[in-house]
Amino acid sequence: QIKGFIFDLDGVIANTSLYHGQAWHQLADELGVTWTEDLANQLKGVARMDSLNLILKAGGKENDYTEAEKEKLAAKKNENYLGLLDSLSQDDILPGMKEFIEDLSAHHYLVSLASSSKNSPIVLKKLDLAKYFDGKVDPATLTHGKPDPEIYVRGAEVLNLKPEECIGLEDAIAGVKSINGAHETSLGIGDPKILNEADLNFNDTSEVTLENIKKAMD
Ligand code: G6P
Ligand code: MG
Repeated sequence: QIKGFIFDLDGVIANTSLYHGQAWHQLADELGVTWTEDLANQLKGVARMDSLNLILKAGGKENDYTEAEKEKLAAKKNENYLGLLDSLSQDDILPGMKEFIEDLSAHHYLVSLASSSKNSPIVLKKLDLAKYFDGKVDPATLTHGKPDPEIYVRGAEVLNLKPEECIGLEDAIAGVKSINGAHETSLGIGDPKILNEADLNFNDTSEVTLENIKKAMD
């Protein structure tokens, strides 16, 4: 029986995955690494340093920078990203997600956050959604980022639920892998060809309702 929902943030609750993508794209251009749709999809959901390493690897530049230089590049991307968040408001909540989260509260489901982003507190505050979460995983405390299962394992633990009692919601390949590895039900939001490992699939956030989820699980 499902008792809890574990949410990714960027690309599931808010359209901020777009801004992460823009900021990484700009850095890739500056590094002379070709930006492709495939690279963009690989980066989704992946922690900051891991993302930078994937970009450098895609350009065959994984040995060109010291750790200190990489820290600077990652900090630059983050400054850029934070600039893009300046005008973030409740209008940036993806279609239907506020209603869905409110409906979960009304039906006494437990809700936690499993975002890789160290900026998630700022984003949730700007969207005025922090109050709906019964628990949050702090990504700074993780040993391994997505696609490792750790973050979704912890997402159930903070709710005192068993993995099989939870549904995880993701827009990213790395995130779906993390949910599956944690033995929870994975709900992929986006192109089913890209998120083909998800247990359930919805093309768009507006389709994510309790009713549709119940139907899909039957
Ligand atoms: C999210 C995004 C990724 C981002 C990661 C780390 O999962 O989907 O694109 O790289 O968080 O975010 P941060 O804000 O800590 O750099
Ligand atoms: Mg995401």
